[in-house]
Amino acid sequence: LSEGLHGGELEWVVAARHGIPVDRLTSFANTVAPIIPAQVYDLQRMFRRLYLYSPRDPVDVRRTIGKFSGVPPDRVLVGAGSTELIHLFFQTLSPGHVIIPVPTYSEYASAARKWGSPSTLVKLAPDFDLDLDAIDAAVTKRTRAIVVCNPNNPTGRLYTKTKLSALARLADDAGAYLLVDEAYLCFVPHHRRHSMAAETRRHRAAVLDSLSKLSGAPSLRLGWMIGPPPLLRELRRKKVPGTVSNLSLWLADSLLLASSQRETMQRLIARERAYLEAQLSKISGLAITPSDCNFILLRLTRRGLNSDQLFDRLAAKGLVIRAAGNIPGLDRRYFRVTVRTHRDNLKLVRALRGELE
Ligand SMILES: Cc1ncc(COP(=O)(O)O)c(C=O)c1O
Repeated sequence: LSEGLHGGELEWVVAARHGIPVDRLTSFANTVAPIIPAQVYDLQRMFRRLYLYSPRDPVDVRRTIGKFSGVPPDRVLVGAGSTELIHLFFQTLSPGHVIIPVPTYSEYASAARKWGSPSTLVKLAPDFDLDLDAIDAAVTKRTRAIVVCNPNNPTGRLYTKTKLSALARLADDAGAYLLVDEAYLCFVPHHRRHSMAAETRRHRAAVLDSLSKLSGAPSLRLGWMIGPPPLLRELRRKKVPGTVSNLSLWLADSLLLASSQRETMQRLIARERAYLEAQLSKISGLAITPSDCNFILLRLTRRGLNSDQLFDRLAAKGLVIRAAGNIPGLDRRYFRVTVRTHRDNLKLVRALRGELE
């Protein structure tokens, strides 16, 4: 598998390689909720208004996001998925030095590289918690940002607010920004109490979130950053206007306001994650990393089979996992699976038993 390919891109590769139509694959590789919300099917009603350009400043959606996250709208910047905002962030801070605790989402290091920021990848502790001393030791006079993902992709681990607040103080002292990517936080019950959104008023900190994961429709490409207005102004100056389509903006309100739908998905994921963890931990040759969100990091413990080989064997059966050997800080023993519906999860458990037992 080529370097830098995400879980979310694998479906296209497997479909082409094995000649399977992409919608016939069951993907445990992308980290998206397994059910598309009903609102997406209302899009057709909106087609009548396709002749309109999207606004340069989607103020209504910023207001809804502000309400959803408990911050005023002037602390919200909307982009074409959080990916656009990750890139704008690095573009804005370039060429400053960046610290990235790994393993984590590979786009941070790719974006830093792309925009000419040297980065230091600091290893997480053996239990995948943040190692504040190691991060502190990596700070230099040129450090402009520390980037973490909470819960972390691909480990699934949620960092405590105490730890993140300590990291925010460390960033303040260094004159750097702490960027916390909360793309998966909405899968955690009582997610608001874990969010750093409100802390962005007290610290040089910013938070990222997205409609891609819990709302099950990354094709919409809608993400946002919450942060200090001066930082957001700098990002906005660099931003290409009109990157978020009207269809996504029109849907954002109803998706963000659908709290009971969100809670149903949180419950489904919690139940199915418990099921998957219980079943997978019974399979010999597999070690589980306990997860706080909608995916699980697994490690193959027997010699003779690596995760790339396992990927190939399962792909031939139409099941896509995320082999994690190309994620800095991991190796070819690791792979990640996303929690899906019970029917899909059963298929995964059976297939893994078949390959490993
Ligand atoms: C941690 C993390 N942040 C951001 C993204 C990108 O999300 P978006 O669709 O909002 O660009 C992903 C996608 O896999 C992710 O895992």
